[in-house]
Amino acid sequence: MKIGVFDSGVGGLTVLRALQEQVPGADYLYLGDTARLPYGAKSRETVARYAVSSARFLVEEGAEFLTIACNTASALALDAIREAVTAPVLGVVETGANAADASSRTRDVLVMATAATVESHAYAAACAQRGMRAIEKACPLLVPLVEEGWIEHAVTAEVLRIYLTELIEQERGAGLDADTLVLGCTHYPLLRAQIEAAAPKRLRVIDSAEVTAEQVRKKLGTGDGKGSRGAARFFATDSVKKFRALGSRFLGREIDGVELVDLEPGAGSSR
Ligand code: DGL
Repeated sequence: MKIGVFDSGVGGLTVLRALQEQVPGADYLYLGDTARLPYGAKSRETVARYAVSSARFLVEEGAEFLTIACNTASALALDAIREAVTAPVLGVVETGANAADASSRTRDVLVMATAATVESHAYAAACAQRGMRAIEKACPLLVPLVEEGWIEHAVTAEVLRIYLTELIEQERGAGLDADTLVLGCTHYPLLRAQIEAAAPKRLRVIDSAEVTAEQVRKKLGTGDGKGSRGAARFFATDSVKKFRALGSRFLGREIDGVELVDLEPGAGSSR
């Protein structure tokens, strides 16, 4: 089984890392659309166009199952991707909402995500379908801070404190009593420890990387997650050097070969 993993950049490597641990029998194709990142500040039409060309590329390269690791693409473009390719497609909004459903007793959930994901209200809709209420908070400064490597940094701690304070105020204003906090962006798992330290203790933090890998394993009916890591090929649409340098932080190990691809409309899916 070849599993395609798609993200706007390197953030989805947190999902690949979890997948390689939990579904070690598969081979992986990872595409980071780094030339067109960030998706989180773009319109639905643009995100859908970019995400569809990326998904098509992975299927052309042999992916038989697609994991859309990018929350923004999952929130804004999942239907468009499913229409464009025949391979089964799983998005992280669905897996995050499923995990919140399993975790929440109060049925109230908080979500941190990019501006585009929040504007789409995809998490609120997915939570509502499962009988939960959700408050979504756009945290646009977190992606650049993580990309800068400012993980254990006073500025990031302060930004997190402000976002969480605003989120809790929103929650109170709406009369919710949340017990679960969904990290609705590929970059936030790297800040998990900082978020857990800054958030009220009543909130259980859900990281879409782990839960997505778990749900892929269940969907594909593969073993118990033990064994040697599946092989991976990496593709990026911009500097392979930058992808390697930044990506190793997300993947937790060195990345050897990265292939440069050109997905620009008009140029086809040539490499
Ligand atoms: N991958 C995006 C997400 O999970 C974050 C980075 C971006 O804005 O492209 O929403």
